[in-house]
Amino acid sequence: MRVLLVGSGAREHALAAALCRSPLLDELFIAPGNPGTAALGRNVAIAADDVAGLVAFAQAERLALVVPGPEAPLIAGLADACAEAGLACAGPSRAAAELEGSKSFTKGVCDAAGIPTARWERFTDPAAARAFVGRRGVPQVLKADGLAAGKGVVVARSLAEAEAAIAAMMESRSLGEAGDALVIEECLEGEEVSLFAFCDGAQALLIGAAQDHKRIGEGDTGANTGGMGAVSPPPGFDRGAQEHALDLLVRPALAELVRRGTPFRGVLFAGLMLTAQGPKLIEFNVRFGDPEAQALLARLRSDLLAALAALCDGRLLESGLRFSDDAAIAVVLAGRGYPGTPTTGGVIAGLDEAERIAGVRVFQAATSRDPDGTLRGAGGRVLSVCATASSLADARDAAYAAIARIDWVDAVWRRDIGVHALARLEEAAVR
Ligand code: AMP
Ligand code: GLY
Repeated sequence: MRVLLVGSGAREHALAAALCRSPLLDELFIAPGNPGTAALGRNVAIAADDVAGLVAFAQAERLALVVPGPEAPLIAGLADACAEAGLACAGPSRAAAELEGSKSFTKGVCDAAGIPTARWERFTDPAAARAFVGRRGVPQVLKADGLAAGKGVVVARSLAEAEAAIAAMMESRSLGEAGDALVIEECLEGEEVSLFAFCDGAQALLIGAAQDHKRIGEGDTGANTGGMGAVSPPPGFDRGAQEHALDLLVRPALAELVRRGTPFRGVLFAGLMLTAQGPKLIEFNVRFGDPEAQALLARLRSDLLAALAALCDGRLLESGLRFSDDAAIAVVLAGRGYPGTPTTGGVIAGLDEAERIAGVRVFQAATSRDPDGTLRGAGGRVLSVCATASSLADARDAAYAAIARIDWVDAVWRRDIGVHALARLEEAAVR
């Protein structure tokens, strides 16, 4: 098969590496890709959200499959445009991608399908939002209804914080039109985990689960980021619990979308809270997570391309997925200043030395390569250092040993990725 992979992050570098392991793959194109993916296929200079450009390229090259990495092209209608052009696309239609595009859409699906989630209400009037928070008290979670690149959620633990969020999002329009409507919901307490499934419309197949580290600072402090590290599997969320969560949270959502005539095809990412009352849905995303994918795909032992092709054909359940029992970890190296303005241009060396450690792979995101081969930092999240081993402790040691071999003056990373998970595993062992 000749395949177009869309995106340019470390998630896409990891996807490219997994696709390259497939005996079904004849040729891989990545749009726009990065210096890491250039070593695995041919990068083509088309932006990830240029739907018309992507479809024209796939048609001209008569490609067998389009694999979207990020959500933006899906929300912009990439899968619909592929369908019109007779191209297979392993991602959801624009209508089904509303699961990520709109918080209130997802909440409506949850209510219709009986999916456990935080109680919620939607507001377009700041005065009504204020009155609601005043009545309900804190903590409350305030969310911009539209897509806000991870910046649209405030967990308000005081009335002043809630007030500030309403003023900023609804009145000062700090997030533009994304904040014109606000969803205010009950604050869930517990362990937060991410669950991933391949879906072919009617059916879902468990991929696995991971735990992200969203804050920039150690001890989960500081600003929210796209994700600074991940472990898979997460502590206290074994295969059985993952299958249970799939039945409770994912399969009913698929059935509801089938009922509405907009079936979901692609990778569904359920962000959930393991509460004292059981798993509850926080959000859906319509794609793999980054850096969760790097950790999950490191454990995949079966053919990713076969699974993606099968989900496009509605034959998902025929594609047996297999994963190793190893633990995996991904640690993100970002340019100093991220998630604000990162320092760019610094020379990066030592990646080959890092990958000489058993079980280690380094995936690239915002890097650039000079004509003489010099690699440089070129943005926020720059590298994902990934390791697998028979235990999380060993995987963690390998990843950090690999980072010690990387030479890049602008790098910032968290030293505590996986520390919380290890502590939970030790607690469980004591009990
Ligand atoms: P979202 O954009 O919906 O993923 O929200 C971003 C983050 O806010 C989540 O990853 C959670 O850590 C937190 N969050 C969102 N909703 C809730 C909730 N109802 N209760 C507690 N934390 C939440
Ligand atoms: N790491 C979170 C995400 O990809 O949305």
